[in-house]
Amino acid sequence: MTTTLVTGSAGFIGFHTARRLLEAGHRVIGFDALTDYYDITLKQARHRVLEQYADFRPVIARLETPGVLADLMAAEQPGLVIHLAAQAGVRYSLEAPGSYVASNIEGTFALLEAARAVPPQHLMLASTSSVYGANPDRPYRETDRADWPLSFYAATKKATEAMAHAYAHLHGLPITMFRFFTVYGPWGRPDMALFKFTRAMLQGCPIEVYNHGRMERDFTYIDDLVDGILRLAACPPERPADDRVMTPGDSLSPAAPWRVVNIGTGAPVKLMDFIAALETALGIEADKKMLPMQPGDMAATWADAGLMADLAGPMPRTPVAEGVAAFVAWYREYYGV
Ligand SMILES: NC(=O)c1ccc[n+]([C@@H]2O[C@H](COP(=O)([O-])OP(=O)(O)OC[C@H]3O[C@@H](n4cnc5c(N)ncnc54)[C@H](O)[C@@H]3O)[C@@H](O)[C@H]2O)c1
Repeated sequence: MTTTLVTGSAGFIGFHTARRLLEAGHRVIGFDALTDYYDITLKQARHRVLEQYADFRPVIARLETPGVLADLMAAEQPGLVIHLAAQAGVRYSLEAPGSYVASNIEGTFALLEAARAVPPQHLMLASTSSVYGANPDRPYRETDRADWPLSFYAATKKATEAMAHAYAHLHGLPITMFRFFTVYGPWGRPDMALFKFTRAMLQGCPIEVYNHGRMERDFTYIDDLVDGILRLAACPPERPADDRVMTPGDSLSPAAPWRVVNIGTGAPVKLMDFIAALETALGIEADKKMLPMQPGDMAATWADAGLMADLAGPMPRTPVAEGVAAFVAWYREYYGV
């Protein structure tokens, strides 16, 4: 039985990842500060679900509090670390950029330091597709340039990729960085479009559709994403040999056991089609308020999912209609509406 440290376990993706590991019989330490970026009661409710498993140990603390992660890693010696805690969200990084420095940069630094002292067999850290920023190429490949972030959120995530690379090189830590796309599903995040649209439509309010609906996203269903994370957990990168020939399309560093992997479906879905799936699932036609593009946002993003498939097999792809219906069923039950 492996002990896994999951940071961000009261968050959307961390909760699902921890639950899947617990169901598979692993011991999970769930680390989360329950920050007030969105409804804390939703985070507490996610942790309550995890607390039903005997092998779950919750730790409520901030990543960057001195000594906390180091002491925890020394005591628990986790074989696998999945770092999902972060200040997420593109738009909020215009309002409160300092919170991104604290959670993403200082927090990830604390985690890397703790892992240096007590190295896990595999350290996995969440980055984001937002790091591709102003790169005009589609689909996004891991070997494409990701040097022009358009939001401060993306800039902090890009910084964590570089920090992790240095630690992988200097201390031999096997590190996989994930670049997630637009993840959705039950227990989702209240600041994301699906949640906001559902709430507004059930209240009879208009929904705000940016860029007049001319948006495309690689909507990734949460169960498929967790499947991808756990399959990659079994593929820690190895330090490349000196005479190694670089495999085209592989993002493995020439100098460190470090790799970045997109986790997306590889198939973009039009925002208006996603909204149509929600209208069907709710049985309500949305009152759509068409708005211009938001600063820092991107019209179309989707993954090249080839590296993920090469490493760990092709990702499952839950159809959008099915995934949206599962979200709506959860929402109605959770909020009793
Ligand atoms: N959801 C998506 O579509 C998406 C897309 C790309 C990348 N990501 C990344 O995936 C990861 C998980 O995202 P999510 O959607 O589950 O977000 P989330 O906000 O639901 O979860 C993040 C959790 O981290 C915790 N946290 C924040 N700062 C902390 C700190 N300093 N110390 C301890 N805990 C802290 C929060 O309380 C929260 O529960 C994040 O790193 C995010 O940037 C998510």
